[in-house]
Amino acid sequence: MAKPPNIFRILQLSDIHAGILDFHAGYLLDKRFFGRLNQAVMRHRRLTLDRIALFAKLQREREADFTICTGDLTSIGSAREFAHCEELLAEVLDYAGENFAFVPGNHDAYVRQSRPELAEAFQRLNRGRFGLDELPVAFPTGPVEFVLLNAARPCAIWLSTGELSSAAWEKLDYILAQPASTAKARVLVCHFPVCDHQGLPLSWRTKLVGYKRLIAWAEQGRFNAMLTGHVHCPFVQHLGNSSALAIGAGSLTIYQSCAQIDINTQTGEITAEILAL
Ligand SMILES: [Fe+2]
Ligand SMILES: [Fe+2]
Repeated sequence: MAKPPNIFRILQLSDIHAGILDFHAGYLLDKRFFGRLNQAVMRHRRLTLDRIALFAKLQREREADFTICTGDLTSIGSAREFAHCEELLAEVLDYAGENFAFVPGNHDAYVRQSRPELAEAFQRLNRGRFGLDELPVAFPTGPVEFVLLNAARPCAIWLSTGELSSAAWEKLDYILAQPASTAKARVLVCHFPVCDHQGLPLSWRTKLVGYKRLIAWAEQGRFNAMLTGHVHCPFVQHLGNSSALAIGAGSLTIYQSCAQIDINTQTGEITAEILAL
């Protein structure tokens, strides 16, 4: 499908969950043991990693201007897993070049000990534009101002919640109070959505703590769309009573889905579509 000339096209993929089945004695001491167990028993049989090649094909066919990955690349966020994922994504990254951005998911920030590995992978995947500790950060490209958020942090084994520090909320509030420079649309990018595929709030075990503030800011017109992962079933919803779109790409390797987001370069109008692969 040829791309109309006045469209800036984003393709979004998420939640690949590509782990490596290695075991270390150290894993027995923390929740990485359960992460490995979960991956071995549940995910390994279900993951359709061949969809990554189909996504790369889609980038070319649909002439993607920018590619976004909304996290949960890995299973337990180890250096070997990030290297493995970057190999799997080689064609996707090659096509995107500088036009690629990544925000971490809870699996990428699985345990405190792996934070340096995540920070390094983050910097590589974001082409050295900024470091993990700088988020939230805004950067304009084409008609869009992206605002990247990192709400992923290690949490208890029974939780997969996201949380922003009070400093991060303050910085985000400041960013969203500024005019979006020359951009026509402002798009938040975060692993954790404000709702699930049915438009319902996430449970206390999986939600983004303080997510109602984002809905209120969307209703005030402070941003125009939010791209997320975490919920493996894809969706396009509205943020509260606003016209802003909540877009969940779903899991590429579990639900075989991704999202296409078109932004009109003249008007800033955003349309989103879930694509099945
Ligand atoms: Fe996930
Ligand atoms: Fe997640």
